[in-house]
Amino acid sequence: MRRSVRVGGLAVLVAVLVAACRPVPPDATLRSLADLRDGRLIGTSVEPAQFGRSADATLIASQFSSVTPENVMKWEVVHPGPSTWNHAPGDAVVAFAEEHGQRVRGHTLVWHRQNPAWLTGGSYSRDELIAVLEDHISTLVGRYEGRVAQWDVVNEAIADDGTLRDTIWLRGIGPDYIRLAFEFAHAADPDAELFINDYLIERGGAKAATLLWIVASLRAQGVPIHGVGYQVHALVPSLMPTPEQFADEMRRFASRGMLVEITEMDVALQLPSDPTTGPQQQADAYGSAVMACLAVRECTGVTTWNYSDAESWIPGEFPGFGEASIYDAELRPKPAYERIRQLLWWNLRAR
Ligand code: XIL
Repeated sequence: MRRSVRVGGLAVLVAVLVAACRPVPPDATLRSLADLRDGRLIGTSVEPAQFGRSADATLIASQFSSVTPENVMKWEVVHPGPSTWNHAPGDAVVAFAEEHGQRVRGHTLVWHRQNPAWLTGGSYSRDELIAVLEDHISTLVGRYEGRVAQWDVVNEAIADDGTLRDTIWLRGIGPDYIRLAFEFAHAADPDAELFINDYLIERGGAKAATLLWIVASLRAQGVPIHGVGYQVHALVPSLMPTPEQFADEMRRFASRGMLVEITEMDVALQLPSDPTTGPQQQADAYGSAVMACLAVRECTGVTTWNYSDAESWIPGEFPGFGEASIYDAELRPKPAYERIRQLLWWNLRAR
């Protein structure tokens, strides 16, 4: 009996090792590889116009199991007047996702950018601004109740020096705006996973310390906050943390009961990029983040910000940088794409 158990165990080990040596199947998409794991998702940001181009639509549907509206659920698009709403583009994203069995991450309910002039230029008392915020969140989150699984409720609330960022929300409401936003979102969809999302928090430091304090104090007050989103806009690949550092950082939040997710990853290269080292460095950086996520049970997925260099926001925002995505401008997969596929495959085989 003991002997056969031992032999059986050895056979399993050999089978796993043999399987692990098999190359990743050439036709396996990111999503098909991720799907084989315990619910881990691989996503991209999207714009509705992309659904109208068949190569893009096919790529989004076949490669990704999660989508995030890049802009269309932001205030300036969805809520252009105090009582005017523009839901059609957001509806198109949710409909596309439902048609293709994809999760939607809602983005974003409270931010200091892409706000309409009526909001930024208005003069509101504290109570009035709270009422405006509640109306916005309850309308938008309520519209997609049960259909948008995660929301970035509060985005980029912390300044680079670790203080709370000076925004219309902080000025008009006070630090309480963070708690209120989560409570309004939870009231509108009690099942949605509610995230606080930020950049440059993957390597510890002042911002991550403040974030941990915010999360701990909100949880101590019983506020419905469920996750931390790591944007990971890696402008300089060499500044990426190692997978171990990144995973440890995520675990500091996971051990306090939080989900974590990589929500907006891209890796911008300085142009002109070196054709040999550039794509490899980029693949390393994407790979580090994917490895970190796979190493942390509470990491729900990895979303890339823009799937292709043709769509990328980087050249417009950071002149002199670009080529940040996992597909090039002709939708050809780059080494970073192949790296992610391999990591998902090895990870799967190792289980
Ligand atoms: C960016 C979009 O990609 C651009 O199209 C837009 O002009 C500006 O915003 N952090 C975020 C995202 O949370 O919403 C930002 O998206 C990128 C930085």
